[in-house]
Amino acid sequence: MRTYEKLLLENKAWAHEMVDEDPQYFNRLAHLQTPEFLWIGCSDSRVPANEITNTQPGEIFVHRNIANLVIHTDVNLLSVLEYAVVHLKVKHVIVCGHYGCGGIKAAMTNHDYKQVLNMWLRNIKDVYNLHKTELESHTDEESKFDRLVELNVQEQVLHLAKTSIIQKAWQKEQRPDLHGWVYGLKDGIIKPVFELNAGTPLDPLYVYDDL
Ligand code: CO
Repeated sequence: MRTYEKLLLENKAWAHEMVDEDPQYFNRLAHLQTPEFLWIGCSDSRVPANEITNTQPGEIFVHRNIANLVIHTDVNLLSVLEYAVVHLKVKHVIVCGHYGCGGIKAAMTNHDYKQVLNMWLRNIKDVYNLHKTELESHTDEESKFDRLVELNVQEQVLHLAKTSIIQKAWQKEQRPDLHGWVYGLKDGIIKPVFELNAGTPLDPLYVYDDL
């Protein structure tokens, strides 16, 4: 059997198992999704949103990219954000990074990853630059790396708050709260590192006054 054929076989077994446990399971989900959370995570295969939070299909709306970045010209991410906030009316947006992130590690090197990846990783170098003094006070590379993972999550949460999508929802509906979390590959534990509750005052430079 080819490896991908095993996926299809396992899918059949899973679907049967779900229906055995709850005959209405797919009927219900086919008609409605009302997730309370939007998850912006890393594409890393070891950090699947549902598994690590023990949630079911239907509970979390998910967007993933390399190093969980929120980039203000990323149409893909912004479409997901707008749909989740305006239409699904999620109450929480979670940016979840992870220690040992390959994207963050790559951005800490001076290696040429060629243009498309260079362009993506450049955003992480900018986070480094913003927090250079603190980061360079770390004497060992490992703790500097861990700290950049945390600061990257923090900056991405701030990027969310700079969008008119979030500012409008905050003003009109006092939601969603924004959370920055970091997952530990070594112990499976999620550490909350940053939070912006709906309505938190922002740097005036980024505030829209005519929403
Ligand atoms: Co990663």
